[in-house]
Amino acid sequence: MKKIMPIIGTFAFAGTVPLAEPNQAPVHHGSALISPQLIEAIPGWHKYGELFLYLQTHWIKTIFLIVLIAVPTVFLIHYLIIGPKIFSHHGRKFLVFPNWQRIIHWIAAAGFILLVPTGIMIIYAKFFGGGTPVRFARYLHDIGAVLFGIAVIPMFLMWLKDMLPRLWDIKWFMILGGYLSKEKKEIPADKFNAGQKMWYWLATLGGMIMIITGVMMYFQDFDIALLKNLNLYHIDLLRLAVIVHLLLAIIVVAFFFTHLYMSLFAIKGSLQSMIDGCKSEDELKHLHSIFYKRIIKEGKDKELAEKCEK
Ligand code: HEM
Repeated sequence: MKKIMPIIGTFAFAGTVPLAEPNQAPVHHGSALISPQLIEAIPGWHKYGELFLYLQTHWIKTIFLIVLIAVPTVFLIHYLIIGPKIFSHHGRKFLVFPNWQRIIHWIAAAGFILLVPTGIMIIYAKFFGGGTPVRFARYLHDIGAVLFGIAVIPMFLMWLKDMLPRLWDIKWFMILGGYLSKEKKEIPADKFNAGQKMWYWLATLGGMIMIITGVMMYFQDFDIALLKNLNLYHIDLLRLAVIVHLLLAIIVVAFFFTHLYMSLFAIKGSLQSMIDGCKSEDELKHLHSIFYKRIIKEGKDKELAEKCEK
């Protein structure tokens, strides 16, 4: 019962949660936050501080573990029962992702490949034995964040127009993109389908929030006068940053696994489009029917096909 209380009534519960491990406050040499007496003297410490620690030490690890196991399991079942969508790659191909978009995408991907496993190592530091391997994971996590940080704004801008919601996205959601059946039929989607749009918004806006909260944790010792006027303290802000970072990480990782499953397994040959930029006519006709009809109508098909001829 106690465990579900933080979800039911955060505020009512605050202050009664037992500390799992005492003094988990951030320690940063040269920081005013270093002294436990100072931290405990901060108003609100016994309220939200303990609640945050409770969430951090109990819930986050459990929910993360569920995501790490459940999401790949669901996709394994999907693969075994429904299987991948297979499209002919013999006909024409059209350029969908120009060089520069692919470069930006792969910088973001490289960042994520560093961020996800190292983030997991940091969360389960005890399980991984702590010490040097986890410290090393933290350095790699920071490097991953910088790589992702370089790509996130260009990625946001380059696909913004194509990712705006459209009415046919509702139809896509109603049939779940056709992924629950083996049948090959025309799916309502322009260049990106509604699922891809969801991933885009989460990866870019969510990614920016991850960067901001990550930077707050990295620099810990910041001082913002305005926050003090609002009766907010460093420590409150740090707690908030940690919780937002971790809760968002759970959602982003679940979607990242989905993105990997879609790109590597659910649609045979999809990865190739992020390597050479081209998609087959058969795939576009079915999975991006609105896009396909549009390029034909606007007479752009020949030009896009020429760019994919070797
Ligand atoms: C190893 C990691 C990754 C692989 C293998 C991968 C693969 C792909 C592929 C094949 C596509 C084209 C899909 C299609 O249109 O058929 C794609 C698109 C895209 N990727 Fe990735 N990607 C990876 C990581 C990432 C990361 C880390 C981000 C964002 C931070 C990202 C964001 C996107 C977005 C927004 C698109 C366009 C929408 C979509 O297709 O979902 N990708 N990726």
